[in-house]
Amino acid sequence: KLIPVIMSGGVGSRLWPVSREAHPKPFMLLPDGQNLIQKTFRRAAALEGVAEVMTVTNRELFFKTEDEYRLAGGGAVAQSFILEPFGRNTAAAVAVAALQLQEVYGADAQMLILAADHLIKDESAFANAVVKARQLAAEGWLVTFGIRPEYPETGFGYIEADQDTPLAGGFKVNRFVEKPDLETAKQYLAAGNYLWNSGMFCFRVGTLVEQFEAYASDVLGAVRETLSRSRLSEGHRHRAITLDAEAFGEVPDISVDYALMERSQRVATVPCDIGWSDIGSWNAMSELTEADANGNRFDGEVLVHQASNNYVQSHGRLTALVGVENLIVVDTPDAVLVAHKDRAQDVKHIVSQLKRNG
Ligand code: GDD
Ligand code: MG
Repeated sequence: KLIPVIMSGGVGSRLWPVSREAHPKPFMLLPDGQNLIQKTFRRAAALEGVAEVMTVTNRELFFKTEDEYRLAGGGAVAQSFILEPFGRNTAAAVAVAALQLQEVYGADAQMLILAADHLIKDESAFANAVVKARQLAAEGWLVTFGIRPEYPETGFGYIEADQDTPLAGGFKVNRFVEKPDLETAKQYLAAGNYLWNSGMFCFRVGTLVEQFEAYASDVLGAVRETLSRSRLSEGHRHRAITLDAEAFGEVPDISVDYALMERSQRVATVPCDIGWSDIGSWNAMSELTEADANGNRFDGEVLVHQASNNYVQSHGRLTALVGVENLIVVDTPDAVLVAHKDRAQDVKHIVSQLKRNG
């Protein structure tokens, strides 16, 4: 049995002002009129052998998420939800899902961790990669999906594939390094045998629990305690577990990449070419829209005079650009962003400032 687990917790602060706490990145409308969470749900539900789709998200986003799944034609597949009072990072979210699935389906069930906010253009290549990953997971590997790196991104995990240890459909991983500094990322890119970690994983549930026991037993213990104190509600359409806030607050705040993937000796990777993007910034978002002859990309109503290589997203109002280049302009009813394209990553600092100022 396969249970896709959709992780939906990040705020997407580099996509401010459209992505906000109450309207995070998975819900942002893309130029094709769909949002990332609908696409993710459809992609998950369409896989072979899916028993149910599980979602781990903030309890405030429960109804919103359910609505999106309904719009995505969710009725055909069983759904379950784990509702967090607040984010405690991905190790916690993955561990809760694993313990819950072990109880319902047993240790041999397989879970496929998916991010709610990634774009995958080639769905059939993705489905093929999942088939390979499931074979490796059944053999007791913690399986990552490796993406050919394009530039020395420091916001990703890097996977060193062990070319001497080919496995059916993939490779053993020598080293997993989460978010290296720029110099290190450049070395990895030059070395040629490193892949980006896509942030999706495939595990046999029992193996994952064992590995948590070995490398992050503090997370596992606190999550067990949380589950024992949490509330289960069974609707006619789905099962939902609302996590106990006090107990969940005791879970260490660490990502699954640091807690497990960097430490485990049982990591494998399935290299895949699936048109993957994590839409990490406005630059990545802009690439979903076709450029005009001057390299400008627009979502919304825009007029230009002698402007080039800009990206504009406007929500309802007319935006005009004159004599400017390499700008990101995002206009919303209550906030406007103007940023240099080279500084797209730094938009998150505005969100930090907003938080500090309350
Ligand atoms: N439910 C829940 N709770 N989900 C969470 C939480 C949480 O506390 N924190 C993060 N998530 C979700 C995010 O919404 C996203 O879908 C996924 O888990 C990954 O979290 P990110 O915060 O986006 O991680 P990252 O981008 O810094 O790094 C990960 O993804 C990269 C690829 O995009 C790592 O796995 C990297 O190694 C990887 O390269
Ligand atoms: Mg991310």
